[in-house]
Amino acid sequence: MPIIISELLHKTTIDPREAELLLAFVLKKDWPYIIAYAKDKVDSKVAKTFLSLVQRRKKHEPIAYLTGEQPFFGRDFLVNRHTLIPRPETEILVELVKHRTCHMSRVTIIDVGTGSGCLAATLALECPNAKVVASDVSSAALKVAQQNTERLGADVEFVKDDLLGKKLIQTLTHPLPSLKLREGCRRRGELCFVANLPYLPSSDKKTMMPDVAKYEPAKALFAGRDGSSLVVKLLQQISSLCHSEGVRRVEESSLTKISPLRRLRSFGRNDRIAVFLEVDPRQTKKLAALAHQLFPKHNILIKQDLCGRERFLIIV
Ligand SMILES: C[S@@+](CC[C@H](N)C(=O)[O-])C[C@H]1O[C@@H](n2cnc3c(N)ncnc32)[C@H](O)[C@@H]1O
Repeated sequence: MPIIISELLHKTTIDPREAELLLAFVLKKDWPYIIAYAKDKVDSKVAKTFLSLVQRRKKHEPIAYLTGEQPFFGRDFLVNRHTLIPRPETEILVELVKHRTCHMSRVTIIDVGTGSGCLAATLALECPNAKVVASDVSSAALKVAQQNTERLGADVEFVKDDLLGKKLIQTLTHPLPSLKLREGCRRRGELCFVANLPYLPSSDKKTMMPDVAKYEPAKALFAGRDGSSLVVKLLQQISSLCHSEGVRRVEESSLTKISPLRRLRSFGRNDRIAVFLEVDPRQTKKLAALAHQLFPKHNILIKQDLCGRERFLIIV
């Protein structure tokens, strides 16, 4: 039996706005359509599909996993249970990196822990001069990230690796043409690391909203007892690029004869390094102090999120 949209919506006990969004998704329409045509009828098949999604929502499954999409920086990204749902505060990270790199002619942006690829794809589209490389430990997340870049027409090179591991280092140093290093290879460029790594202490799980705790991947949320282990390790790995002793920039012709790590160190010494991190505001001061120790010649900046919390750590 066909049913009037407003009556169908009244049958649910979930948040009315969420119900409207789910019905719009089932009807393949925008949200305003539901408001504008609230007196129209939908057929029983649509009603059944909608009510089954409402049941899942009642069990706290996030809307983004029900619809399979989440907007980020004005574009829709595919998401699933293997990827974190991109958060609005992470859009600030895009703005910060974009402001720094958009006018640079030789910049490589490295998104460590890319998840859905929201940062990598957005930065590749917003900063067309930059070469963008993205990594994750999760093959399932990388698959989604790859789909997103293909759908959006963003040029991103993906690598499966654990933080700044061997494979990521190899991708950053080889092959040279993909890094756009051939032209003017003696000019200084920038390696710009961007990361929104897992940063919550595992104890947070007990107090979290079930939408997050039950459904989003633990691998994307938690990082050890105080939540900082991955960020600390990444900072140490990046700083080792700046401080390696006795490694000079080598000529392009001999680059293939030395190890990938030495090759990257030679970039690290001769190219600028910048780091943009989203961190747990409870950890920002501690991580900034560590950054001062690890990067004594850099400026360390802290920026706030939409709620005024110190969520971004910048090393430039
Ligand atoms: C908080 S999510 C962020 C995803 C995406 N950057 C975003 O902002 O929506 C963190 C991502 O880091 C990945 N990750 C966790 N540990 C990692 C590691 N050791 N090395 C690389 N990536 C890791 C997770 O699989 C997850 O996709």
